[in-house]
Amino acid sequence: MSALIAPSILSADFMNLESELRRIADADFAHVDVMDNHFVPNLTLGLPVFERLTKVSPVPVDAHLMIEDPDRWAPAYAEAGAASVTFHAEAARAPVRLARELRRLGSRAGVALRPATPVEPFLDLLAEVDMILVMTVEPGFGGQSFIEGTLPKIRRARRAIGESGLDVWVQVDGGISRDTIDRAADAGANVFVAGSAVYGADDASAEIATLRDLASV
Ligand code: DX5
Ligand code: ZN
Repeated sequence: MSALIAPSILSADFMNLESELRRIADADFAHVDVMDNHFVPNLTLGLPVFERLTKVSPVPVDAHLMIEDPDRWAPAYAEAGAASVTFHAEAARAPVRLARELRRLGSRAGVALRPATPVEPFLDLLAEVDMILVMTVEPGFGGQSFIEGTLPKIRRARRAIGESGLDVWVQVDGGISRDTIDRAADAGANVFVAGSAVYGADDASAEIATLRDLASV
């Protein structure tokens, strides 16, 4: 399976986002983390900045919404030009309706699970989404260590997708680097978010290429 690399701009220089996006022009997506200080204890950016990012990004934008009440707020990110909008299963009140709305607006729809959230209660959602995001750290901050205990969940998600015959991507986010990406890929992930690994590298393009090679299993 070919690996898709989505650098997270959470580790970019927020004063220079346009040039920071140019550094990842070889990536498959730019991963943008929206945090509201409620669902997670951190605050990043909202719709006005997001909309500008979609206009200047050289690659499609993948929105990761770590916010409460995504039912209310997520569709606006699709309307703002996101190629993909991922909301958290723990926060959504009507996930099926929300996923359908995101797709109707022309975006891919994703559902994210915190490390402690089991995948089984959400398997019925697979038919309604394009991607499942298995968080491999507790959401909220970049630069944390990959939680090895999430690997079985990645495997279960991939197996369920295989059994369903659906074409759903499995994304991993948190602690993805040269040291961990092969294990996540081996477990069944095919979309890899990497913040500190890519933006902390001197040559972001070379790091993206290395990660893509290591993840192509
Ligand atoms: C964390 C965010 C991640 C974060 C990953 O809540 O969802 O996208 O930027 O950062 P690294 O790759 O440094 O773990
Ligand atoms: Zn993220």
